[in-house]
Amino acid sequence: MSEDLRLGEAGSRGRRISLTVDGRSVVAFEGETVAGVLLAIGHIASRTSPVRGEARGYYCGMGQCWDCALVIDGKPNRRACMTEVADGMRVETQAGFGPTRFG
Ligand code: FES
Repeated sequence: MSEDLRLGEAGSRGRRISLTVDGRSVVAFEGETVAGVLLAIGHIASRTSPVRGEARGYYCGMGQCWDCALVIDGKPNRRACMTEVADGMRVETQAGFGPTRFG
């Protein structure tokens, strides 16, 4: 089974780009949100909660719940559902209020 859950070649897409997710190189297309790309590759937990360290992921998909907050290009608390991908973007799972899980 493919790791990429996007629809095949149906519909039109933006230009093919690449970004990294927790150090892993990932293909994306201009116009996609970070949340869309992460869901397509099966990365469902964007952060861990500040107190208990429980996994949190995408909930509302429209910028209201902040459960999709993660670190983008070194900046914490960026909402994956409200952020479009960019070529060379660095996306990292967030731990609590800001630092990444992976250093
Ligand atoms: S999923 Fe709710 S703010 Fe992004």
